[in-house]
Amino acid sequence: MRVVHDFIAESLKRREIDNSLRSLRTESGLIDFCSNDYLGFARSAELKELFKHELEKYPGYQLGASGSRLITGNSQFSESLEARISQYHHAEASLLFNSGYDANVGFFSCIPQRGDTIICDEYIHASIIDGVRLSHATRFVFRHNDLTSLEEKLRASRGRIFIAVESVYSMDGDEAPLKGICDLAEKFGAAVIVDEAHAVGMFGDRGRGITDQLGLNDRVFARVVTFGKALGVHGAAVLGSAELRTYLINFSRSFIYTTAAPFLNHLGVKVAYDFLNAHDHQSELYKRIDLFHSHIRKDLGLIPSRSGIQALLVPGNSRVKDMALLIQTSGFDVRPILTPTVPAGSERLRICLHNHNAMAEIASLCEIINSNL
Ligand SMILES: Cc1ncc(COP(=O)(O)O)c(C=O)c1O
Repeated sequence: MRVVHDFIAESLKRREIDNSLRSLRTESGLIDFCSNDYLGFARSAELKELFKHELEKYPGYQLGASGSRLITGNSQFSESLEARISQYHHAEASLLFNSGYDANVGFFSCIPQRGDTIICDEYIHASIIDGVRLSHATRFVFRHNDLTSLEEKLRASRGRIFIAVESVYSMDGDEAPLKGICDLAEKFGAAVIVDEAHAVGMFGDRGRGITDQLGLNDRVFARVVTFGKALGVHGAAVLGSAELRTYLINFSRSFIYTTAAPFLNHLGVKVAYDFLNAHDHQSELYKRIDLFHSHIRKDLGLIPSRSGIQALLVPGNSRVKDMALLIQTSGFDVRPILTPTVPAGSERLRICLHNHNAMAEIASLCEIINSNL
């Protein structure tokens, strides 16, 4: 056992030396510029009221799902929620997963087989990397958003080919060139999978995402939508054909071997979608993004982004941590993104803009950054 203790102690020591040791924090009480609650749904009093009102219709609800979807965890409610989600996103079918992490792991570990190739953007989310690792397919990585690099990898690919991209990248806030990716995919007979975790709620008609906005729903093989970001609740769904849904029910281990999410969770997702559909939440967010762009100094290392994620490069773990601390001391909760979450040299402040950020708060945040960077 000693050797295991030694390994753990050394690994933590190395993180301390790199200034990259992670630790948990409770509520900071600072102004939120770091959560993924872009539209303010997680804290919306109106949404909470809608939830309470809706809950009254189900006095006999069960607290826990009591089993996996394939045993006792399925219900008419979860199936009608899936129908509602696929209809909302203009997909033939959808399948709920307990989180976006589970959805990506479950998808990529069971569809690509030995001899197949999965090509990922170099900035693809860890959940997709982990799913790919569990599959027996070959993984290629193409340079971020670079269609020439993607084409090179496509030429070298064997078997069935899968291309994994995010419509909005979680750490950079920029968007994948989805049309060009679909054109290339069609040329090589590849299937495109788009993770829309950060696009849902933020882009497209009533937040339907970028694939839908660009009219590409029928040109991609599957989409992953998550509920823990702009929708303010929790969970995820894979959108695609009815056949894909049946395949996932049969082969996706993160779907099969886990207790289904509880009714309260699914009710939250339903109410969040109703709320998303009921108002134009996006215009308020765009106003805030425009204000941020007009106030932030142009000579700083801001990664171009139209989204609520604005990444400001401050290379070096120590430097970016110090900068975040300085901003936090002024009352704004901005978090540093360190190596190894991002490649060394691209450490950044990840500034998330939200509908609950007052315009004056955004202007003050920019002032602090402008005068200290
Ligand atoms: C692009 C992307 N995909 C998937 C996930 C995982 O989603 P969830 O938080 O629902 O597990 C995240 C969350 O960090 C993400 O940023």
